[in-house]
Amino acid sequence: MIKFPYSRPEILNSDKEAVLEVLNKGYLTQGEKLLEFEDKLQSTFKCKNVIACNSGTAALHLLYLALGLGPDDGLLTTSITFLATASAAKMCDAPVILADVDPISGLLTPENVEKAIIKSKVKIKVITVVHLAGKICNMEGIAEVAKKYGCMIVEDACHAPGGEYINSKNKHYVVGSCKYSVASTFSFHAIKHISMGEGGCVTTNDKIIANKIRRKRNHSMIKEKNKFSIRFEDARPWYYEMQELGWNYRLDEMSSALGISQLKRLYSGIEKRKKLAATYCNELKSLKDFILPAKQSTIDNSVWHLYSVLIDFNKIGMSRGDFMNKLYDIGIGTQVHYIPLFYQPFFKEDPKNYPGAVSYYNSTLSLPMYVSLTNKDINFISDCIKNIIDE
Ligand SMILES: Cc1ncc(COP(=O)(O)O)c(C=O)c1O
Repeated sequence: MIKFPYSRPEILNSDKEAVLEVLNKGYLTQGEKLLEFEDKLQSTFKCKNVIACNSGTAALHLLYLALGLGPDDGLLTTSITFLATASAAKMCDAPVILADVDPISGLLTPENVEKAIIKSKVKIKVITVVHLAGKICNMEGIAEVAKKYGCMIVEDACHAPGGEYINSKNKHYVVGSCKYSVASTFSFHAIKHISMGEGGCVTTNDKIIANKIRRKRNHSMIKEKNKFSIRFEDARPWYYEMQELGWNYRLDEMSSALGISQLKRLYSGIEKRKKLAATYCNELKSLKDFILPAKQSTIDNSVWHLYSVLIDFNKIGMSRGDFMNKLYDIGIGTQVHYIPLFYQPFFKEDPKNYPGAVSYYNSTLSLPMYVSLTNKDINFISDCIKNIIDE
């Protein structure tokens, strides 16, 4: 196994005990751990409704369905994100419009969003922003643009549980509280802040949307008598009804228990990541002609899901692939987040329309970042990078 992968979950004995307790009880799905997990997420994210499900992709799909994305109601999103942010809209048969990003932070900006809306030939119903790598988007600015064009905002916050946005009045809001958005989605995939193998959730202050999502998560099964299309004279305790399409996106009890246990360490984990990021920034300072750690304005409120630097590979005279392979050979894993969506055959668009995203993609590299790393490890990784550049 590689010594320093680019990311790694932290599983403690307390996590294992939490899962084992569920297995010993034998009630493995649709039980009280799910409700407890949703309750705990609700107080963490300070949002009125939380619906947990079995992946971040499922969360996006359920949400887009509930918001009514479809052939005539498109999604606008960033070109630098994981596939699911956009493909979940395609699952609803909705068109996807990509916007360019800031070349340094890789984030959507109000200006890029507005440009893409003006250029779009299809009606845009939803704008999904992505808090890439844990860096928080300018929500207030994007909300102004969304209001101007009558769009709803969704936050794909898969990288940013525990983050906060600070508005122009210096007020702080927790990501997930949906101050500027109709809903937020999170992923609890193995390498996310809250590691559950697979898992996710939607947060929203809108009860109608929450109820739609909850029903669709479980096959759109209706069990409430007053909602049946048929009235029965006799008692039929077994009866249920399906009036629209639904899915099985339920989260099981073992994952919920693991989530509850992991959630306890969300904020201590972020503090640790902040310290590791500060060490990286300090160590890489001497390479400033080659490497830019991260856009300064986003450093303070990042929750550091990833530690992505920008590297001038032309200047160091080596391709990114060769650089990654050299690090890999000494046990250091790295990754690229992400291949812009317009390069994917499924979403294909002309890269010339996305200069910011092309520039970001050409130089981004994510270095190891996870809570069990030590400052000594970061010193070692940074020294290896310096040696490769000096070669
Ligand atoms: C930004 C973003 N959105 C959505 C997802 C999808 O989440 P999941 O893997 O839990 O389906 C991911 C997962 O990596 C992601 O990084």
